[in-house]
Formats: sequence, C-alpha cells, structure tokens
Amino acid sequence: MSIHNLSQSAQRMLQKKVEILHHVQVEPGYFRMGLAFPELARIARPGQFVMVKLPDRSIPLLRRPFSVHNRLVEKGEVCGFEILYKVVGQGTRAMSGMIAGEVLDVLGPLGKGFSYPEGISDAFLVGGGIGVAPLYYLALDLAERRKVRSTAFVGGCSSSDVLCREEFEQAGAKVCITTEDCSLGEEGVITSLVQKAVESDGKPDIIYACGPRAMLRSLSDIAGAHDVPCQVSMETVMACGFGVCLGCVLEKAGGGEGYLHACTDGPVFDSRTIVLD
Ligand SMILES: Cc1cc2nc3c(=O)[nH]c(=O)nc-3n(C[C@H](O)[C@H](O)[C@H](O)COP(=O)(O)OP(=O)(O)OC[C@H]3O[C@@H](n4cnc5c(N)ncnc54)[C@H](O)[C@@H]3O)c2cc1C
Ligand code: FES
Repeated sequence: MSIHNLSQSAQRMLQKKVEILHHVQVEPGYFRMGLAFPELARIARPGQFVMVKLPDRSIPLLRRPFSVHNRLVEKGEVCGFEILYKVVGQGTRAMSGMIAGEVLDVLGPLGKGFSYPEGISDAFLVGGGIGVAPLYYLALDLAERRKVRSTAFVGGCSSSDVLCREEFEQAGAKVCITTEDCSLGEEGVITSLVQKAVESDGKPDIIYACGPRAMLRSLSDIAGAHDVPCQVSMETVMACGFGVCLGCVLEKAGGGEGYLHACTDGPVFDSRTIVLD
C-alpha cells in the first residue's frame, strides 16, 4: 500500500487507506477506534489531528477532523493509533457502523499540537465531554517523556459523558470529575472545580484544555486572573485540514489584523491569542 507524502514542508503529511483494528462503543454515542497506520502514529504529537474520509461513500462528502487519542503498541512496536469520537451528525453516524477490517482514508498528522514551556512540572488538563480525546495522549506524553505531574479535570452533562477516567488514572494523573446532573463526581461545571483547585491547592505551571467554547473562555479567564499559561485546542468546523479552504478561521485577540486558521496555526493556541466568543 503506498503512502503519499503530500508535503515537503517542515511537517510530513501522510495519506493512506488504513484498516480499522478495533472499534468499540465506550459509552452510548461514544466510540474508540484503532487504525493501522504506524507511520503516522510514530510522528503524531499530542494535540495534532487527522482528517478521515469514508472511502467509496459520498456521504459525508468531506473529510472529518479527529484528534490523535492514543498510540497503539504491540510487542514493543508502534502499530497504529486510536481516535475517540462522539456521534453528532452524518459522518460520525456512518463511521459508528463500521467494523474491524474495513478501511478508512486517513490524512495526517495535521496542525500544531500542545507545546511544553521550559521547566513545567505540574499541569492541569481540562476536558469537557469529548474534549478529553486529545488530552489523554497529552497525559501519556507528559508522564512518560516529560515527567510532568498532571491533574485531569473531566466534565460532562451526565456520567455517560465522562470518558477516560481509568485511562487518565493509569497514566498517573489525579482525576477530578463534575457532572451537571450530579450523576458522577461533584455537581456543576468543570471550570468551577478548576477555579477551586487553583485557589485552594495552588496554581499549576500550565493549563491545557479542549471542550466547548464557553468552557475554554471561562478557563482562559481563570488562567489570566492567576497568571497561568493556558493552551486550548479549538474544534472548529474544517473542510480541508491543511490551509486551503479557509473555512476554519479564528479571530485574533486584541483586534489584531487578519485571521488565524485553526488547522495550520492551531488547533492548539495560547488562549490569550484568539477570541473565544
Ligand atoms: C482539530 C479537531 C479535532 C477534533 N477532534 C475530535 C475528536 O477527537 N473526537 C470527536 O468526536 N470530535 C472531534 N472533533 C469534532 C469532529 O470533527 C466533528 O464532531 C465531526 O466533524 C462531525 O462530523 P459529522 O459529519 O458527524 O457531523 P456534521 O453532520 O458535519 O455536523 C453535525 C452537527 O455537529 C456540528 N459540528 C460539526 N463539527 C463540529 C465541531 N468541530 N465543533 C462543534 N460542532 C460541530 C455541526 O454544526 C452540526 O450541528 C474535532 C474537530 C477538530 C477541528
Ligand atoms: S480547514 Fe481548510 S483552511 Fe483550515
């Protein structure tokens, strides 16, 4: 099977039709899928994403973006990666019906992932719902390669929206949970718990986050008030994933001229550099 190297620029972008290794429902409406693409898995960094297309189907017409969630290793060799996704529309609904052995057309790794400022030893990872998808891969990298202590704050509407609790714990992270209906963890929204933790236990060296815009805005305010750097992963609608369609624009903070593109300038940004309305 050939791999097309679509870019000669600094970042290598690979495309291939790859086999689904496994595909399981982890909670109602949420799926984890393993994809046999070791070449991509070896170079993908936390926060980067792939664009996925269902071959031989016209619906959906366009690729869909998904974060790299985990690297798969078998017998000491990288054999692929996982995505974790929520069914929200026609593309994800069609994907959810696929089975191991079928193939998906995958393009990536794309975008700029999370970065690690010098000297950090303590990080908060804040995920709202499916926003935990890129944060688990980040937690593994922080623990294994950078010796950074992580606290994962995971929020959901209900207990079935709280994903990856055990995985974060296995990665060595302390896990704090909120649900809006009080079915798991503390009642309320996850940003309240972050605020409390910052005020009572002390501020972390950095906050990494992914989730709904309102959550990111609130976190950015908390981080700003306590002078903590905050990196947010932005899930805009994307058509191409590599800077061609101009469909993923974000407004620069502070009235700066021009726009940023979530796919090439991000999807991870310093929260102070973009408008989070
Ligand atoms: C960089 C990046 C990484 C992502 N990583 C993940 C991931 O790991 N797991 C995951 O489940 N999802 C992720 N997403 C979101 C995912 O791409 C969308 O949920 C998916 O494209 C929806 O496709 P669909 O055909 O099922 O829905 P559509 O039929 O296209 O849309 C259904 C509904 O969802 C809304 N919608 C579509 N895309 C988004 C979006 N990006 N944000 C908010 N609402 C949207 C539409 O407006 C519409 O109301 C990511 C998005 C980006 C940009
Ligand atoms: S998704 Fe096409 S330019 Fe960003």
